[in-house]
Amino acid sequence: MKRFMTLLALLAIVAAGSARTLVIYYSFTNNTATIVSNLSAQLPGADVVRIEPAEEGLDYAADGYAIGSALIAAIRENPDDAASYPEIKPVAVDVASYDEIIVAVPLWWGNMAAPMQTFLFHNGGAMAGKRIGLIVSSASSGISGVEADARRLIPDGEFVEPSL
Ligand SMILES: Cc1cc2nc3c(=O)[nH]c(=O)nc-3n(C[C@H](O)[C@H](O)[C@H](O)COP(=O)(O)O)c2cc1C
Repeated sequence: MKRFMTLLALLAIVAAGSARTLVIYYSFTNNTATIVSNLSAQLPGADVVRIEPAEEGLDYAADGYAIGSALIAAIRENPDDAASYPEIKPVAVDVASYDEIIVAVPLWWGNMAAPMQTFLFHNGGAMAGKRIGLIVSSASSGISGVEADARRLIPDGEFVEPSL
């Protein structure tokens, strides 16, 4: 209920027309994409951008999630090195021009899915002072690791609590 009220408060600010809102998301099996589709129907003024890996057709879940596991391990080992992050397709969005940014992302091995981490590694600094809402899709794991990633990658964001 508390989480629902927080989201309602965020939506109310957007509905008042006083803020520019960006919804940025990544989705591998489209669970997050479905959430964003439902959300964006309630946020008609928001811009919605999907992150896409540069390499198409990878199955992150194959062989016991081997590729996804390796991507997350590389980031955990060297989180400050740009080379640790998988390449993504160019994203034509200026995050600095928004007041509120909703980041929607799956959980991978307790962390934020790697392609979104790539985007935030390069753009999180420009989100300083923005209201940040975090929406996480997972099978069963708790999302505190994803929240920690978001705070590491958007160090000066004004995070809306709690995340969803
Ligand atoms: C590489 C990989 C690792 C995952 N690790 C976890 C995990 O540690 N815990 C969990 O609950 N779900 C895990 N999942 C499941 C996803 O978080 C879950 O299915 C999510 O809803 C997928 O969102 P999407 O359809 O938008 O990609 C993992 C999925 C993948 C592909």
